[in-house]
Amino acid sequence: MAHTPTSHSPSGLTRPPWRASVLTLFPEAFPGPLGVSLAGQALDAGLWSLKLLQIRDFGIGRHRAVDDTPAGGGAGMVMRADVLASAIDAARQDDADLPLLYMSPRGNPLTQERARSLSAGPGVMVLAGRFEGIDERLIAGRGLTEVSIGDYVLSGGEIAAMVLLDACVRLIPGVLGASASLVHESFEDGLLEYPQYTKPRDWEGRPTPEVLLSGDHAKIAAWRRSEAVRITRERRPDLISSKENG
Ligand code: ADE
Repeated sequence: MAHTPTSHSPSGLTRPPWRASVLTLFPEAFPGPLGVSLAGQALDAGLWSLKLLQIRDFGIGRHRAVDDTPAGGGAGMVMRADVLASAIDAARQDDADLPLLYMSPRGNPLTQERARSLSAGPGVMVLAGRFEGIDERLIAGRGLTEVSIGDYVLSGGEIAAMVLLDACVRLIPGVLGASASLVHESFEDGLLEYPQYTKPRDWEGRPTPEVLLSGDHAKIAAWRRSEAVRITRERRPDLISSKENG
């Protein structure tokens, strides 16, 4: 499924949508969860577009082979550099301006900062690999930037690509109803988020913290900040060290 809508800002000026182009052996996996809720509504509204390219269309021979055995031996199969290069070169004809990313556990970790900077650009072109990985020569040959979504191994890059796209899309102006809701969420200020409460005021003997019912906005802000610092210190001391005096 390809989505290539145009977008109109509330002021009536046309803003080009943020473009995602995904190269995959499983285009049918998309948009998947990106087709519902905020990301899905934004896709329908033309705030971003999603193009899918089937790598197998560039495969070799009658069977459209995209992979082969690893040089030097070993288990599994490796995606061919020539096939992937043809796919990338075709995708780039329309989208030469997009940064070219390869989802891989070897890559630089995806961070909120990275998502923010990608969401501020024209979009992303993402290669989702399968099997034991891709021929190393493609990475330099086509200037791929490797991106990891965490220290674990997925069976393919599609879910990782969706994670990256979701993190970027929700930061596109107009995608989130209230952009203020971004200000205090986890990582935006280098801290994990403070705890949230809603009704009922008392639930199973667990009351809502009194300060949140006080109506004293300065006191509430101070409490939230100190909770954010406490939770971050407990769970992610690696994040807090640089924020201790901030
Ligand atoms: N592909 C397989 N595992 C991955 C990971 N952890 N991050 C990004 N892409 C991947």
